[in-house]
Amino acid sequence: MLFRGRFNNSIDSKGRASIPARFREVLSTEFGDDCVVVTELDDGLAVYPKSEWDRIEAGVEALPDDEEIKDDLFLTLISPAVECSFDKQGRIQLTEALREFAGLGDGNRDVVVVGVARKLMIWSKATHDEMRSEAAARIKSNKAQIKKLVLAFLQPHSGGIYLDGTVGGGGHSKLILEASGPEGRLIGLDRDPEALAKAAEVLKPFGDRVVLRHSNFSEARQVLAELGVAGLDGMLLDLGVSSYQLDAAERGFSFRSDAPLDMRMDQSEGETVADLVNSLEADDLSRIFREYGEERYARRIARRIVEVRQQAPLQTTRELAELVRGAVPGGKAPARIHPATRVFQALRIYLNRELDHVAEGVRAAIDLLKPEGRLAVISFHSLEDRIVKRIFREQATGCICPPRLPTCVCGHTPRVALLSRKAVRSSEAEIALNPRARSAVLRAVQKLD
Ligand SMILES: C[S@@+](CC[C@H](N)C(=O)[O-])C[C@H]1O[C@@H](n2cnc3c(N)ncnc32)[C@H](O)[C@@H]1O
Repeated sequence: MLFRGRFNNSIDSKGRASIPARFREVLSTEFGDDCVVVTELDDGLAVYPKSEWDRIEAGVEALPDDEEIKDDLFLTLISPAVECSFDKQGRIQLTEALREFAGLGDGNRDVVVVGVARKLMIWSKATHDEMRSEAAARIKSNKAQIKKLVLAFLQPHSGGIYLDGTVGGGGHSKLILEASGPEGRLIGLDRDPEALAKAAEVLKPFGDRVVLRHSNFSEARQVLAELGVAGLDGMLLDLGVSSYQLDAAERGFSFRSDAPLDMRMDQSEGETVADLVNSLEADDLSRIFREYGEERYARRIARRIVEVRQQAPLQTTRELAELVRGAVPGGKAPARIHPATRVFQALRIYLNRELDHVAEGVRAAIDLLKPEGRLAVISFHSLEDRIVKRIFREQATGCICPPRLPTCVCGHTPRVALLSRKAVRSSEAEIALNPRARSAVLRAVQKLD
């Protein structure tokens, strides 16, 4: 178990800060009761379990004496550290110097205590609120950055016809419609009916310039045929799950809350993850974890699932997450990423056949573009991006005959031009602030005549 969660609190007139019971429990079960309070560079105080702190101090101590940073770390981090323990009421004493550093005083006693994996952070509430709004503004501007690039690649224009294959909450679609006014039209697809309902609200102001359809983007060809559309000026695929889907606990995409093991992107069809984990053979489960989650302990986890389900079927996200934690070596130790993350990703990708659809969807998209039409794809993990990259490269390549043949016999001609030689990635800042932005990769092509 790691420290997670955020609590508002206040320090008392003697400078003691109450640490929420949930954090004290993690501390005493996982680390032991003693801790160390240190000043961090962002005006916050960090509370480290003593064992964690000893590791950090030993790491700094081991740096060569001539490394300039060693002195800096001693000065800013190690020397001001204060050992402390809890009193009977679960409070720690913050020295005057620590309080002064964090901007805490008589008129300013409100604090926010945040669990950050292996340490706790304490900020004055005023500092915390300021940091949060700055962070939110940075995330927003970075998201806007990727959105701007999508528009730069698609170059929407009035009279053009565009397809957003993953309309989700309608964010990108709205921008495409704005940029292609007054005559541009947009067809929006999503396999999740709930997403479509949200998009319908957001896109209402564009009236009959928008048509929304409940469909998999791999079936875009049929949708266009039904609508009598012969070709597209641009198409976007923003792959993966939306924040909205992750936040809807009952959909079972996240183990942060306990919910039935569902994870279907389209709840109107097919099996759920519960069906998979309670019926597949250990070998099949193991292959899924390895192929789609790159999970090192795939076999162990699969065997454990088969063992446990003999007592009773697995039903909830927490049950599965805890099972995985117990099955992998060191799974109970604190870690930055929960040991079940890769297993959940693998089951979701397999259940929804996500990679098959990406390959089919990207190929169909290239067929459906008019000459000079543009396709942009945003991937969220390397498995998806690998497929997109391979298809783009293959379609951008001319003759594929072996070099030893004197003349071309394959007749292969390039169908698209790459719009950027290198993939565009989310900025470091966005990744640090918003883990869901991890490895967002944008690639784009333009159809040739
Ligand atoms: C990252 S979100 C898209 C967010 C959207 N671009 C926006 O700006 O709000 C991905 C969406 O794609 C949908 N989706 C994923 N795979 C799909 C597929 N094969 N066909 C259609 N929709 C799909 C998901 O249901 C989800 O709503």
